[in-house]
Amino acid sequence: MKTLSHRIWRTPPTADDSIEALDPEKSESEGSGDQPVVKLSPELTLCFMLSHVEPDGPVRLDGVKLSVTELMGLELDEAKLGAFAGALNACDFSLQLLVRQHPPDLRRLRRNLKIAEPTQLPAQTRAAAKSSRRLLRELEARPGILDRRFYAICESEHASELRGVLARAGLAVHPLKDDSLRRLVVAAALGGTPTDLDPDVEATAQVNRTELDVDGRLQRSLHLSKWPRSLAPGFLQQLMSIGAPLDLSLQLGPIPPAQAARQLEWQKVRFESARSMTLRRGKSLSPEAEIALEDISRLRDDVQRGRERLFNASLSVTLHAESAESLDELTQRASAHFAATLGKLDPLPFRQREGKLSTMPLALNGVGAWRTLDTSSVARCFPFSPPDLDTRSGALYGIDLRACAPVVYDPWDGTHLNANTAVLARSGSGKSFATKLGVLRGVSRGVVAYVIDPEGEYADLALAAGGRVFSPGVPGQGMNPFVVGTADPEELLQRIGSLRRLVEVMVGERLSAERRAALDHALASYYAQSRERSGFRDFYRFLERDDPEGLAKLLRPFKSGSLKHLLSDDGDDLLKHEALVTVFDLHLLEPELRPAAAMVCTETVWSAAAQDPKPRLLVVDEVWSIMQHPEGAAFMVSMAKRARKHRLGLQFITQDVQDLLSEDTSRTITGHSGRALLQNAAFKLLLQQDAAAISTVGDAFDLPTDLRRWLLSCPRGDGLLLAQGQRFPIRIEATPEETDLIEWRPGQQTTSTPNTPQKASS
Ligand SMILES: Nc1ncnc2c1ncn2[C@@H]1O[C@H](COP(=O)(O)OP(=O)(O)OP(=O)(O)O)[C@@H](O)[C@H]1O
Ligand SMILES: [Mg+2]
Repeated sequence: MKTLSHRIWRTPPTADDSIEALDPEKSESEGSGDQPVVKLSPELTLCFMLSHVEPDGPVRLDGVKLSVTELMGLELDEAKLGAFAGALNACDFSLQLLVRQHPPDLRRLRRNLKIAEPTQLPAQTRAAAKSSRRLLRELEARPGILDRRFYAICESEHASELRGVLARAGLAVHPLKDDSLRRLVVAAALGGTPTDLDPDVEATAQVNRTELDVDGRLQRSLHLSKWPRSLAPGFLQQLMSIGAPLDLSLQLGPIPPAQAARQLEWQKVRFESARSMTLRRGKSLSPEAEIALEDISRLRDDVQRGRERLFNASLSVTLHAESAESLDELTQRASAHFAATLGKLDPLPFRQREGKLSTMPLALNGVGAWRTLDTSSVARCFPFSPPDLDTRSGALYGIDLRACAPVVYDPWDGTHLNANTAVLARSGSGKSFATKLGVLRGVSRGVVAYVIDPEGEYADLALAAGGRVFSPGVPGQGMNPFVVGTADPEELLQRIGSLRRLVEVMVGERLSAERRAALDHALASYYAQSRERSGFRDFYRFLERDDPEGLAKLLRPFKSGSLKHLLSDDGDDLLKHEALVTVFDLHLLEPELRPAAAMVCTETVWSAAAQDPKPRLLVVDEVWSIMQHPEGAAFMVSMAKRARKHRLGLQFITQDVQDLLSEDTSRTITGHSGRALLQNAAFKLLLQQDAAAISTVGDAFDLPTDLRRWLLSCPRGDGLLLAQGQRFPIRIEATPEETDLIEWRPGQQTTSTPNTPQKASS
């Protein structure tokens, strides 16, 4: 690597002071067959040492083809640090680790949200949707909000080896190709995120004494000329968190172990001879020299045993700013960070281009200075920060407080295990607020939502969003979960199982084995006869005909007694007139009836989802009321397991965290079901926790002490999102328009008059 960079720098850098650059779209395509080769403009190649960009990697001016891999999952924890060091130890070739943090570019997301907005939204909801896109625009410009991306770059012949090694260290690896690769190359040259760069952009770049001026925006490259004496874990974390847009590059060239051992042996001998000379003069060795000698001996042993390797390392940073003043200020802050650890940043006067090249994805140390580092020290530079969730599609769920990045994801995009979310927190911590916000933002991009609402607090939101409100139990608003309409025998079996559990909860007691078997048999033979005639009363009549176990008698209140309005015999009205938001308001029901009613509604939504699968959200608030019945708990767990099949995202909310997670043997069934329910949620949102529950929650989710403490004291609306095996401390932020709508009460008119709700048409 060293000689390579040397040779490149011997090449006269012609015409590098003023460049018209970067027009990858206009660049011609050549090459054979279906492997087009994209050539960038000649000025770019001169300035940025790039020959051209092939579909699977950039080619450097010296003809070396590179391969760029995006990495995700570099979270600060000791186990990963060890795995990462192991991966580095296995690398026998030069590589570059590049971190880019820039203001997020959410233009495409905003555009997609606008396109996905349903036409029938009432004015107030439309205004809220617009305000949410405005919030995204504000986030792009909000100081400190940065989109952080990690890349590893090496010569393409080593690419698959590198990816294998990094994947084994627990990192997600995404090779960059085609458009995403070209966007990264252009963004690395111009600054900014690669998400949505206009490939037709024309830019002028000028290399000055201490900065590069690209279209009026300034870039200053710095090089770490003096490394700190010791590297603490996450040592670059603070540099990343000064909140400046920057590119940070660590170039690594492994030193062959034999050479490293020789080098260390030689140093050890040098120190030892110095020590014996000193002792002969009757003086004693300084404590620093003693420590250095010890360190070298230890390192030599580790290298000889293969536990450590030595690398030629070089660290460069390019800072980006709009004005000279802010660039100077950022430079000062970055220098101060290193000064505190006795390191020194070189501002590279007259060598800005060399500095800039070092932070481009070229695996090139333009500055040419190296320092020897061992594997653990390199690994300790990483991980820089926790990863962010992929921010390329979906809706805004919050702001990552640690990475200062928007948390944007789409639970239904197929990349997650399922679209289920569990919300666990103490009373008043903002569970319903966060859920309503999720419903609203989902509705604004066409995700149909159903809410099972035992407290009657979502009806207003549904009214304002032009949705429907059902009150099961009120005449004419019953549900019909007995519609099956599926030819799939496996699905039919599942449905029969759910209906059996539903009947058990309706009856209010656990059925004996005989009765349960009789019920199962009755349901199976009922659906074997005809699926057309499905409805509770129809099933009841069928049951009455041959009912040795007296099941019909138990269900009579639902047929003709006080509960007769809970179930209806009408068809699938839910789907025929599907509204964007449908709320099942259960607050008028007796509390002991709510679990059965909630299950009736859930089952009805499930049957709608089975008939026409598409992204749907089903919110079950106060899920504990269902989970307290063993049959209800089994029902919810099986629902959570199956939801993905029909693109249903379940969101269950509870404040009774302890009960849900209880390992209490007297509640064995429910306790284990609570955990099973959580295991079937790809997303878990923990908002502020109760002091009494924190140890249960902390143990269940394996949270470190600092996060437990934080969850006790964090403000309302802040919390921890657990997804993809990572933890994201997030803040749930709504715009004033959204807050108005979420907290909207009839009579408290704001911007528009909402539609009157459509009631069930039975
Ligand atoms: N992210 C937030 N931003 C602004 N205000 C919030 C936020 N979260 C909650 N609030 C405020 O806190 C109030 C209570 O929140 P919410 O009703 O969501 O609590 P909860 O956890 O659902 O409580 P409960 O367990 O009693 O149902 C809301 O009415 C709202 O005013
Ligand atoms: Mg609530």
